[in-house]
Amino acid sequence: MLTAIAVSGYRSLREIVVPLGRVTVITGPNGAGKSSLYRALRLLADAAQGRLVASLAGEGGLASTLWAGPERISREMREGTVPVQGTVRRERVALKLGFCGEGDGDALGYAVDLGLPVTTTSAFGLDPEYKVETVFSGPMRARPVVLAERRGPMVRVADDEGRLRVVAQHLAPFDGMLTHAADPRGAPELLALRERLRAFRFYDHLRTDPDAPMRQRRVGTRTPVLSGDGGDLAAALQTIREIGDPRALDDAIADAFDGARVAIDVEAGLFETVMHQPGLLRPLGARELSDGTMRYLALVAALLSPRPPALLVLNEPETSLHPDLIAPLARLVHAASDRAQIVVVTHSAALARALAPDAVVHRLEKSLGETRIADDADAPGWVWPKR
Ligand SMILES: Nc1ncnc2c1ncn2[C@@H]1O[C@H](COP(=O)(O)OP(=O)(O)OP(=O)(O)O)[C@@H](O)[C@H]1O
Ligand SMILES: [Mg+2]
Repeated sequence: MLTAIAVSGYRSLREIVVPLGRVTVITGPNGAGKSSLYRALRLLADAAQGRLVASLAGEGGLASTLWAGPERISREMREGTVPVQGTVRRERVALKLGFCGEGDGDALGYAVDLGLPVTTTSAFGLDPEYKVETVFSGPMRARPVVLAERRGPMVRVADDEGRLRVVAQHLAPFDGMLTHAADPRGAPELLALRERLRAFRFYDHLRTDPDAPMRQRRVGTRTPVLSGDGGDLAAALQTIREIGDPRALDDAIADAFDGARVAIDVEAGLFETVMHQPGLLRPLGARELSDGTMRYLALVAALLSPRPPALLVLNEPETSLHPDLIAPLARLVHAASDRAQIVVVTHSAALARALAPDAVVHRLEKSLGETRIADDADAPGWVWPKR
């Protein structure tokens, strides 16, 4: 299980450590930094696919995602006795992301520090570079248990006695250690960590508009993992029926829609989600169901996946759901948390409340442009590795 994520220098997340539970709810007012935290988690997962630099470029490049406030916020600035102002930069430009974990075989953690090239003759002078990457075990403190480490072009991996030995000396600054130095014999921890990060699953753009893929009849293949836009919803629901937990599926739908029943209509290999509702003479097809209904069905498919992920992150799942669906959704999340660790980013106070009894709830707030956790008394320590 992941016990915390840490972010430094990313948008309004100047320096934050967020403890995670089996279910974690991130809530807070507009502009508090919820989406930024969600995106930071996505960037971490991107690191495992070798897409970190490209994803940052997609957000406008490292420079635009960096914290736009002063390097240090003094007590006087917080108290308002002096204006917020920049001081001479003491540290180098850095975007840092990391997480730590605990448990048998799950205690691996990862921290990455990205910066800009010191000097370059390349036209890609604004491309972020990997400066330091660390794979460690247990908490991230001043002297963590390092299993593998990358400093510039050099990668070192701990041997059986815990001594770091060099496994690569010429890693390109734009290549991550997880994708370019993870070899099953020489560096099994890197491979394990990469697979772990690859098993993070994110849902933030389940489409339910009239042209949404999930409303089209389409070829179904066994689908243990719903796609990001939910386009393969019918196949995913049918897969749960056949190799997953069909009882949980039926209960989740009856729970939300008063005795309604979902069915998958298959015609010449083409699948469509239909719903039988009490009082209607024929089932309604995927084009006829409401946005909220389709979204809820997609969330059911995501949460009841027969192949549960290590970490499932839902961004604003309450969008277009009627308040009556909030309680069933919370029950579904709670049931799914037996099989996956879950993070829910939400605007909805009602959803946060419904999840609260079995979740760690963090309310984000902004102070001088910086995102903080409203009550961060129990935040674990986190020490970033030095460059
Ligand atoms: N480079 C930056 N440095 C500092 N702050 C930034 C930077 N880029 C964006 N911000 C601020 O970060 C804040 C957090 O934005 P974010 O989208 O995460 O908020 P949110 O909690 O998801 O809000 P909403 O509920 O409106 O979706 C915004 O107020 C934005 O102005
Ligand atoms: Mg947002």
